[in-house]
Amino acid sequence: MAKKLFIKTYGCQMNVYDSGRMADALVPHGYAVTDRADDADLVILNTCHIREKAAEKVYSELGRLQQLRRRRQEAGDDLLIGVAGCVAQAEGAVLLERAPYVDIVVGPQSYHRLPELLHRRARSRNAALDIDFPLESKFDRLPEEMAAAPGVAAFLTVQEGCDKFCTFCVVPYTRGVEASRPAIAILAEARRLVAAGAREITLLGQNVNAYRGAGPDGRNWDLARLIRALAEIDGLQRIRYTTSHPRDLGPELIAAHGEVAKLMPFLHLPVQSGSDRILSAMNRRHSADEYRRTIERLRRARPDIALSSDFIVGFPGESDGDFRATLALVEEIGFAQAFSFKYSPRPGTPAASMRGQVNDRIKTERLAELQALLAQQSDAFQQATVGRTLPVLLERPGRYPGQLVGRTPHLQAVHVAAPDAGPGDLIGVLITASHAHSLAAEPIASAPVVAPDPQQGRAACA
Ligand code: 5AD
Ligand code: SF4
Repeated sequence: MAKKLFIKTYGCQMNVYDSGRMADALVPHGYAVTDRADDADLVILNTCHIREKAAEKVYSELGRLQQLRRRRQEAGDDLLIGVAGCVAQAEGAVLLERAPYVDIVVGPQSYHRLPELLHRRARSRNAALDIDFPLESKFDRLPEEMAAAPGVAAFLTVQEGCDKFCTFCVVPYTRGVEASRPAIAILAEARRLVAAGAREITLLGQNVNAYRGAGPDGRNWDLARLIRALAEIDGLQRIRYTTSHPRDLGPELIAAHGEVAKLMPFLHLPVQSGSDRILSAMNRRHSADEYRRTIERLRRARPDIALSSDFIVGFPGESDGDFRATLALVEEIGFAQAFSFKYSPRPGTPAASMRGQVNDRIKTERLAELQALLAQQSDAFQQATVGRTLPVLLERPGRYPGQLVGRTPHLQAVHVAAPDAGPGDLIGVLITASHAHSLAAEPIASAPVVAPDPQQGRAACA
């Protein structure tokens, strides 16, 4: 009988993708995926190290797993515990000191070696640890077959790692330097995903718009070129990409937003701060004005583009004036959605030892003020879609019979009663109501069922 594998995923979409690939690596070795830790033979935590809170969650979950293993052993059974992802990469041996009962520690570059690590563990009393940055790419070694069918909206990693070294960020240390997959491999994976039912693909990379992969024509392709080639795939309806760095958002990619109808009018473009002094201390390599100009160009190319961003408040040295500059930038640009965080010092990063660490009370106040403004903007953005007709890609059944859940081009979740439609259909709907995190809609027969014209009017955003 197949052994059962449960993977719990923390953090970013790349971890979600990687968890799928770990399953792909283990299924040919006698594992079947389960969605319950309780009856698993192997539990893998795919972890995130970006902020302290995210990393600490892993240790409390490991404590619970240790207890689960005790109960299982008392019942004459066993449980293997693995830690993957960025906590595994960053903490490695330290993790094994804090949680010596862990069996396998595997960094993000070594998932193709999971079967071998399990063998190693079975033959030894010690945990199996692999946090190398191997010369061979994991993408060349992971199996092509998918253990589970992709959803209607699938992820595809095209680039990994980051060379930007923002002074607050652990990513360059946990995910390594920038590396892009060859375009041929990406196009082949995209075709497999579409053949298996995917209708939307989100291209993933820590710095996805820095993509420079070998093209089939012998030249290096950038992200815009890759997107144009992907758009040729029949059956693929929508393309998105995340996460981008403002510095790498060049004219070709902006032009693609204006010309490629399958490229959705939504962009997550983290700015982090609106103060040039702080942006420079963060080593972001762009000013607030350069960010503004990039947004202007994008809006000129694709007037209805909706924007999302990440913000950090309480970065070392952030004065009240710096924080006000962030609020001003938010007011000016208007975001459809955003993520904002208190600065969290990460061991080994330059900002952790900078002078002028901001106390937690001030961080909390600033975060509340920023989040109130961002919530106002996202509410206004949601509200502005009420009464509009939009093409919605249906992704999965909803809670009620006949109800389906899908997304607008702007990534808003939509609940729609459409008993005649099913996941994978792109239908026209009239948005009837707006809630905090989703929209309600009814289908309309005469609405467009193709992606909207990139040149149509701008979506209202506060
Ligand atoms: N503290 C707080 N937020 C951080 N982020 C990255 N590192 C830190 C940190 N040390 C945020 C940034 C990034 C997002 C993924 O997480 O805003 O864009
Ligand atoms: Fe981290 Fe900066 Fe790289 Fe983004 S661009 S992953 S914030 S170092």
